[in-house]
Amino acid sequence: MSTATASAGLVSQLTNASIPQIFLSFFVIVTARFILRGIYRIYFHPLSKYPGPKLHAFTRIPQMIGLWKGEPHRRIEAIHAKYGRVVRTAPDEISYIDPEAWKFVHGHGDTKARGSRPQKHWIRSGNDVTDTPSLLFAPTGAHSRMRRVFNSAFSDRSLKLQEPLIVKYIDLLRERLREKAPQGDIDIVKYFNFTTFDVMGDLAFGESLHMLNNDEYDPWVANTFEYLKTFTFLEMCQYYAVTRYGVRQLMKLMAKQRQAHFQYTVDKVNKRVDQGRATDGHDLWTLVLDKEGKREGLSRGEMFANANLFMVAGTETTATISAGFAYLMCKNPEVYAKFRKEVRETFKNQDEINIERAQALPYLNACLKEALRVYPPVSNAQPMLTPVDGTTVMGEYMPPNTVVSIPQYAMYRSETNFKYALEYIPERWLGDERFESDNKKAFEPFHVGPRDCLGKNLAWHEMRLIAAKVHHQFDFELSPLSDGWTDQKIFILNQKEPLYMKLKALY
Ligand code: HEM
Repeated sequence: MSTATASAGLVSQLTNASIPQIFLSFFVIVTARFILRGIYRIYFHPLSKYPGPKLHAFTRIPQMIGLWKGEPHRRIEAIHAKYGRVVRTAPDEISYIDPEAWKFVHGHGDTKARGSRPQKHWIRSGNDVTDTPSLLFAPTGAHSRMRRVFNSAFSDRSLKLQEPLIVKYIDLLRERLREKAPQGDIDIVKYFNFTTFDVMGDLAFGESLHMLNNDEYDPWVANTFEYLKTFTFLEMCQYYAVTRYGVRQLMKLMAKQRQAHFQYTVDKVNKRVDQGRATDGHDLWTLVLDKEGKREGLSRGEMFANANLFMVAGTETTATISAGFAYLMCKNPEVYAKFRKEVRETFKNQDEINIERAQALPYLNACLKEALRVYPPVSNAQPMLTPVDGTTVMGEYMPPNTVVSIPQYAMYRSETNFKYALEYIPERWLGDERFESDNKKAFEPFHVGPRDCLGKNLAWHEMRLIAAKVHHQFDFELSPLSDGWTDQKIFILNQKEPLYMKLKALY
């Protein structure tokens, strides 16, 4: 039978077919494709040699369910626990909890090996509101230029200039807590959020959001939290043609709302740049603004995009760890006693607590490190994608378009990296010989490489100052209402429930 005759026969069959027959045929074709592709992925795909659950290799659906339920971190941890340090978690994704992987996935890798460095996985990373990207979404060239400009704003010199401003809000926090303490259970998450948003508002916009003063969330901040949840959902939809179409329509509907949200940043940054600061002090623009207009400087659009980014990246994370730290202290009374002793014996009063002296406290630093390990603010992997020539990770060539990722949550909770991994033991960071076998190189809460955390030094200073100043003045006691608080869902960042504590002010 010739091809022409066969095609004519097929066309005639189709035109004579009833609607149910057409639907049935369509269903059979789609199902057959789904099954055949799944079988290929499990047995013949270049990643088929990596261990992992067959269902995850077969289809992306289990990964999507994990994201939808806000449980990707727990799912990946379970896969690593069962299958090892390098596992396949989706048809195109390899996850690593081997500390060696950091430099290949996020760092500069091995320049002599086959392929080149993985890039951000844009589909999974999201996008900015306008066409001008912030650091987080900028392509490599623009990213390096902006990082160079912002490095001065986050340098030691700049941080020293910003110290009085940071301390001002922590002192305001203490004042608020002192007022609230006699009322019984306080939601401490709220107050740490108020503090870090007020600090960052002043650093990025040149003025506070006044949340500590008003004792309530600014509506703009409340919206920011909502967006994070929505974006997890949108990320999931990007994978399928039908839902991708839906996302585009939804984005068009949301565009006005997103633009209005973004306009707040535009107005604040314009005001700061054109009129200067409303109050005394040095902020993130103090050193950057000299460069505006110069070739290597930032455009206004880039200033807006990055100020918007700082308001998310530099707030939630630090508030999360400050709350997590208080929780872990209450759950570990011996550690808490030792930490309070160090802080209260070192500093006679609040005025003595500053960036330099807090930096030098060994136990405080160990306690914070251990908090970042057992309760990392960026628990989920930030997925990277291998480029057209692929990448070599730990000696293994990964083909193009493979997602490679490092989940901090699973990395830090693995006994292959840390002894008594689920326990909170700051002594492991102080040379305690029980933990000689710990793989300390696994611990990278701020990531590594050219796109690591720009604000890590600021974050460290802020975390240390908050912990030292607040716990110098107050004794915290966990309310039974908040037991198990660290067991949280994740939609991009940790979804923190209120954390109720009783506070006793010592002065
Ligand atoms: C405990 C607090 C913090 C943690 C754990 C943290 C962690 C991280 C991590 C893991 C990344 C890399 C994300 C990726 O690979 O896509 C990152 C990026 C970033 N962080 Fe932080 N961060 C913290 C606080 C801050 C603060 C206070 C700022 C100040 C504005 C900040 C600004 C940024 C920026 C701008 C980026 C993007 C850098 C780039 O793409 O070049 N972070 N952070």
